[in-house]
Amino acid sequence: MDTRADHSADSPAETFPFIVVANRLPVDIVTHPDGQQTLSPSPGGLVTALSPVLQEHHGCWVGWPGEIDVELEPFVTEGGVTLHPITLDKTDYEGFYEGFSNATLWPLYHDLIVQPVFDPEWWEVYREVNDRFARQVAELAAPKATVWVQDYQLQLVPGILRLLRPDLRIGFFLHIPFPAPDIYRQLPWREEILRGLLGADLIGFHLLGNTVNFLHLAAAITGENSHTGLPALEIHGEAGIREATATIDAPDGRKVGVGAFPISIAIPEEDAPTDDLQTLRTQLGDPEIIFLGVDRLDYTKGILQRLLAFEELLETGALEPEDVVLLQIATPSRERIEQYRTARTRVEEAVGRINGRFGRIGHPVVHYQHSSVPHDLLNQYYRLADIMLVTPYKDGMNLVAKEFVAAHPEGDGALVLSEFAGAADELTQAHLCNPYDLDSIKRRMIDAVTELRLYPDRAQTRMLALSEQVRQHDVHLWANSFLDCLEDTAGRSTLA
Ligand code: ADP
Ligand code: F6P
Repeated sequence: MDTRADHSADSPAETFPFIVVANRLPVDIVTHPDGQQTLSPSPGGLVTALSPVLQEHHGCWVGWPGEIDVELEPFVTEGGVTLHPITLDKTDYEGFYEGFSNATLWPLYHDLIVQPVFDPEWWEVYREVNDRFARQVAELAAPKATVWVQDYQLQLVPGILRLLRPDLRIGFFLHIPFPAPDIYRQLPWREEILRGLLGADLIGFHLLGNTVNFLHLAAAITGENSHTGLPALEIHGEAGIREATATIDAPDGRKVGVGAFPISIAIPEEDAPTDDLQTLRTQLGDPEIIFLGVDRLDYTKGILQRLLAFEELLETGALEPEDVVLLQIATPSRERIEQYRTARTRVEEAVGRINGRFGRIGHPVVHYQHSSVPHDLLNQYYRLADIMLVTPYKDGMNLVAKEFVAAHPEGDGALVLSEFAGAADELTQAHLCNPYDLDSIKRRMIDAVTELRLYPDRAQTRMLALSEQVRQHDVHLWANSFLDCLEDTAGRSTLA
């Protein structure tokens, strides 16, 4: 998508043949000196993947611009894509975003790492906001348009849209894990959400395991025998693309496709100049080994565990403070939710303690930044890092792991990756660890260090295999494989 959006949509009555609907619009809000606010598109993986199809069809992206109570007109980008903002007020933000999406669904779908809160008032607001998104899309969609609904915040949208506009082709993609049925069945509103999802023609997950979980749940909730009543799952074989699909019967008699489509990244074209990398390395004290962590500050990401593993390796002398640093970039996220606050406090206590124990004045062993960093700088950190630490307790995919791999096309560096990140299904050559077991993280960190030091050829072979996998399976392949499957499931394309 273009980097500027500078003219208003021609007519509010305009309709679109292709609509993406996501909780967030891919924009930053720019406040001008006169107080006026406008939208400026912000690039990201999903935008990059969907831009070609959005531009080709003068499509529309419906979403929340990310600030409370901001009312903005739709904008058209230079590439001809309309950005259509939805306003959320304080009640919506607290009940829909912080509450039901991120304090109920997020922990439930991430295998109860913290206890989900089941609050009927949040559920009401979630329903209302989903209804608002769906009604807006129903107005904007051309006859027989294709609508692609994104993620757990909008799981009721397919069902509402199906009632409002039965002519539409509707796809839904879940960007986070889908848990085992026995966890999911705790949710008091499980049937309503399932019915919402079944409004789609195709429901996409990252992994085969997520898809199987969903099929079991659908069978259990719709009363089929969950062991014998499962539809046949067609396994397609190639890791990284449309791995499995099945068809199930919705209560209204429609056939609904269900499948695994592992998301990926846009492969960066440019490399950071090597003199910039040397400057950054010098700033970090010119260590032999730079460990890197890059995450939203979320309790699912296992940031504290990797810090504790690093601390114990320094304590036992397995790593020398003169040789190593750990650079941890943590983007602020969902900061008013209690468990996020607790996670931040624990991470920052650990950073302080480890530096107090093993750093010297002017030479910390952990460099910690609690902010997001510009895309180019992040890429330089990826290039610079010797060993990337991705240690989530649970993660739908984890794009950071793939971004690091893509930044090392020559096969230098090493990746320590949690078995519980979706990316581990594809990145099998990484040093895979169990984040619940501190010894396992420590062992894999030392394996990575040892291989880089003593067996560089072996380390390079691993990284080249990872690099090949990511380069062959980028985000364009993901988007095209989902949209092709949606066409197959729902009949002839209206986008052709
Ligand atoms: P999640 O979607 O749960 O945040 P992912 O790893 O799948 O986790 O995606 C995170 C995205 O956010 C990646 O594209 C990554 O580059 C970006 N990101 C994470 N941390 C930062 C940061 N501190 N600054 C800039 N971008 C970041
Ligand atoms: O990948 C999961 C997800 O929740 C996305 O839906 C979202 O855009 C991203 O993480 C960041 O979360 P938030 O929008 O809550 O800042």
